[in-house]
Amino acid sequence: AAEKAQYKERIKALLVEKNAVLIAHYYTDPEIQALAEETGGCVADSLEMARFGNQHPAQTLIIAGVKFMGETAKVLTPEKTVVMPTLEATCSLDLGCPIKEFSEFCDQHPERTVVVYANTSTAVKARADWIVTSSCALEIVEHLDEQGEKIIWGPDRHLGSYIQKQTGADMIMWQGACIVHDEFKTKALIDMKALHPDAAVLVHPESPAEVIELADAVGSTSQLIKAAQELPNQKFIVATDRGIFYKMQQLCPEKEFFEAPTAGEGATCRSCAHCPWMAMNGLQAIEQALIDPSGKEVFVDMNLREGALRSTNRMLEFSA
Ligand code: 13P
Ligand code: SF4
Repeated sequence: AAEKAQYKERIKALLVEKNAVLIAHYYTDPEIQALAEETGGCVADSLEMARFGNQHPAQTLIIAGVKFMGETAKVLTPEKTVVMPTLEATCSLDLGCPIKEFSEFCDQHPERTVVVYANTSTAVKARADWIVTSSCALEIVEHLDEQGEKIIWGPDRHLGSYIQKQTGADMIMWQGACIVHDEFKTKALIDMKALHPDAAVLVHPESPAEVIELADAVGSTSQLIKAAQELPNQKFIVATDRGIFYKMQQLCPEKEFFEAPTAGEGATCRSCAHCPWMAMNGLQAIEQALIDPSGKEVFVDMNLREGALRSTNRMLEFSA
């Protein structure tokens, strides 16, 4: 604990010295989220992270999250130095959607509007007409459907199916998945609900359809946090990365939160759902990134930037 406190103090001083701000996702470890809050940075979902970095005056953005979040920040503010604790922190959705194959998929359906989840590379974003995050995907697809547009959706198939079901939009889908949310198990969740019949179930829409069906509230990280505050229940079973418990518990200290099971049938697995890439954002890595950003700085191809900026700005303007 003493060592952690020392790291924190050194990072605080470095943030001031380097005119930098720490922007963390809800899935990072609690100490990283706390540090971002204490230092005037932010803890947020992927949409709010993009917006915060875009508007903050600091010259350097330290993005504690995964690669696509750093790339989005660089696309939006190329004049800033964007640094990540490690550039190794990626995402299974990003990895599972290579530009060449995705672009070929899009080329087969030239009449369709390409709507892409933010968890993708700059190249994929540049190929897209619209970027969405789970906070605004439903409204954007609804809007496009009302305009009579047919959609190509990528890469998360669970989020895509959920949105298709909700909106009735004509969507064809890339078959990607999040390795964390894909693991939530229906049978075990039903068993857990039986153990806590008064608990509300909160589910991130990157989870499988059968898990979403058991939910009392479905939404992005920030929407699930809001649901925890607003629903009258005292207990919650939460199907998303366990990093989210930090903010839920902070905002609702009287309420009780349980992790939805990810292991096999009947199991009541604890602490299973945690993104291995989010977990790479440790205090030591943040300090190192501030001391010597070389090899940790995010760069995007300036030719791709223009296209990615267009599709990302559409999202930001739509959800303003
Ligand atoms: P949110 O946009 O709900 O924060 O989720 C993004 C995500 O998948 C981070 O892993
Ligand atoms: Fe990607 Fe899933 Fe990790 Fe989010 S939790 S960064 S969607 S692998």
